[in-house]
Amino acid sequence: MRLIEWGGNRLLEGFIISPQGWSSELLNEFRRSQSNLEKSHKIGGRWENQYLGVHHVPSARVPMRFARNAGKEELGISSMVLFEAPSGSVNPHPPFWFNVAGEGEKTGLHDHALMSVLSAVTYLQAEENCGDLYFRKQGYDDLTIKPEVGKIVIFPSSLLHGVHPNRSCTERISFAFNLFPFPLLLSEIGGI
Ligand SMILES: [Fe+2]
Repeated sequence: MRLIEWGGNRLLEGFIISPQGWSSELLNEFRRSQSNLEKSHKIGGRWENQYLGVHHVPSARVPMRFARNAGKEELGISSMVLFEAPSGSVNPHPPFWFNVAGEGEKTGLHDHALMSVLSAVTYLQAEENCGDLYFRKQGYDDLTIKPEVGKIVIFPSSLLHGVHPNRSCTERISFAFNLFPFPLLLSEIGGI
């Protein structure tokens, strides 16, 4: 994994190489589960996040556990993988989702700060010019990362980021998720 120090933050970029083929497996599981998708909201005419239970996409565990381990080992951040929304969460969906961006589609600037400590994105289908991921922080030039199949980018959930328009002829399909502080304190999830 490559450590990126940018804007006073530390991010990781690299490829998950074991097990071989996890990204094509996850893409197949996603494609097979289209009738079970839950969609949260549209932005610019496109469904922003598409959700599935982990039993539909068991290979989702691979990048999530990889990111938890890399976060601990390489960033010194302890976190926890959750396959369902934490109790008390305002978002009822699982903390992992798919994004499909067709030609010309993009994702606006946002963060994942609510409750989570680390976030990550992986790429399941990404052609040349399919839209770079960018991070933005006042006073710094954007940090831009090129999507590539099998790549994972791990970043602090509070970092603002977006995705440039897809200029390829193929859909860009990514899988993203949040990791939660460990231990997860009840006060952090609004329980007490
Ligand atoms: Fe995001």
